[in-house]
Amino acid sequence: MMLFRVWLALLLTVTACRAQAVEPPVFDATQLRLIRSFGPWPPAFHPDTGNPLSGRPSAVLLGAALFGEPRLSKDGGIACQSCHQPQQGWSDGQARSRGLERLDRNAPGLLDSRLQRWFGWDGASDSLWAAAIRPILDPREMGGSVVATATLLRGDPVLACLAGHAADGAQLAQNDEELLVLAARALAAFQETLVSPRTAFDDFRDAVLAGDRDAMARYPASAQRGLALFTGRGQCATCHSGPAFSNGEFHDTGLPFFITDADGVRRVDPGRHRGIARLKENPFNRLGRYNADPGSAAVIPVRHVVQQHRNWGEFKVPTLRSLLFTAPYMHDGSKPDLESVVRHYSELDEDRLHSDGEAILRPLRLDRQEIDDLLAFLGSLSASLDAPAADYAARRADARRLCP
Ligand code: HEC
Ligand code: HEC
Repeated sequence: MMLFRVWLALLLTVTACRAQAVEPPVFDATQLRLIRSFGPWPPAFHPDTGNPLSGRPSAVLLGAALFGEPRLSKDGGIACQSCHQPQQGWSDGQARSRGLERLDRNAPGLLDSRLQRWFGWDGASDSLWAAAIRPILDPREMGGSVVATATLLRGDPVLACLAGHAADGAQLAQNDEELLVLAARALAAFQETLVSPRTAFDDFRDAVLAGDRDAMARYPASAQRGLALFTGRGQCATCHSGPAFSNGEFHDTGLPFFITDADGVRRVDPGRHRGIARLKENPFNRLGRYNADPGSAAVIPVRHVVQQHRNWGEFKVPTLRSLLFTAPYMHDGSKPDLESVVRHYSELDEDRLHSDGEAILRPLRLDRQEIDDLLAFLGSLSASLDAPAADYAARRADARRLCP
């Protein structure tokens, strides 16, 4: 009993000391403005006016059916879902995805992708629907073709029925290419429904706005200190800004440019530099004939973006929501866990960063406590994916009911 008392007294002292060391931080006005800007969550839905199927429930069902459809691929074995799996935040857990061949890049999670402006790590697509065409036609991913996709949509009774509902009586598609575009637009309409669930961070943000101290206290002090670093000395919010924690732009974070092939050959991934060229030459971009809203503001950046030297080695700023499910990290999947990512920012090789590029990034030289705090904060941006995964299953079931 005596021993237990001593142990308890010791424990209480240690806890008290720790509690003192883990006082929640005080946020300054700039940090409070940033915290507000990370919400509200979930965000309001704004349809993509360039995609006539955006927001249309019948198109969502066709999209959900196509997302799990391996017959879109050349060998009939690879669906979108093979590399974008619901339980992995719609990514695949591999450093670099494997389609018909090993790809150069990591499969990004697809939750919240409707909040983005550019798609792919290099932003080679300017709409969610154009981004759905690339994997279908890319010989290293699904290896499909315009004709094969159109033949499948016309010939399979279930898909033809769903496509009819999605088109809603209108003659949206006549020739093969228009059918491919219809499929891509439906895939986009489905992906627009993928939204990360609310997290502990969102409750904290709302509590801060409401001045509700009790609710604020429920957010762990460590995560609060991580948030203070994220919005303060760490400067993370310069790039990871807004409700999706991405400014939607491209930056160089000092990762190596090289990709090593299975045979040991090293190649360069030029990132955004080539992405701009691919965007400009893509017939399905917003300047092309399939954009249903050529007058929209979304067209302007596509028209005006020009390749610059500094675009070499730049990659898109990814969202940080639902991050716990999408390891490994970075465009090349080179960081196996979040601690490796945080250490990367802590120990950055300044010589590797462009001279004309990122004046923002400096090695942060974080101590153990700061690393843990940032990890606690990053972890608080994820919540269980059971609900979005169940929604996907429900949509696929609805599609089967509509067109048995
Ligand atoms: C073989 C694996 C694989 C398959 C199959 C696949 N993807 Fe992907 N997906 C990737 C990879 C890798 C990237 C990153 C590509 C890049 O940066 O160039 C990506 C990127 C994307 C993006 C851009 C996301 C972002 O945040 O920028 C979207 C959208 C997408 N895929 C949707 C789809 C759809 C829809 C399908 C099915 C038609 C599909 N994918 C099939 C691996 C795959
Ligand atoms: C200069 C802009 C910039 C700043 C500042 C920045 N990031 Fe990033 N972040 C990026 C870019 C760009 C990537 C993707 C890099 C790549 O894959 O080549 C990235 C990737 C990440 C990833 C991996 C996400 C994934 O899905 O793969 C995490 C986590 C992350 N950053 C957290 C942070 C934290 C924490 C800080 C502050 C310590 C920070 N970032 C500061 C631009 C930035």
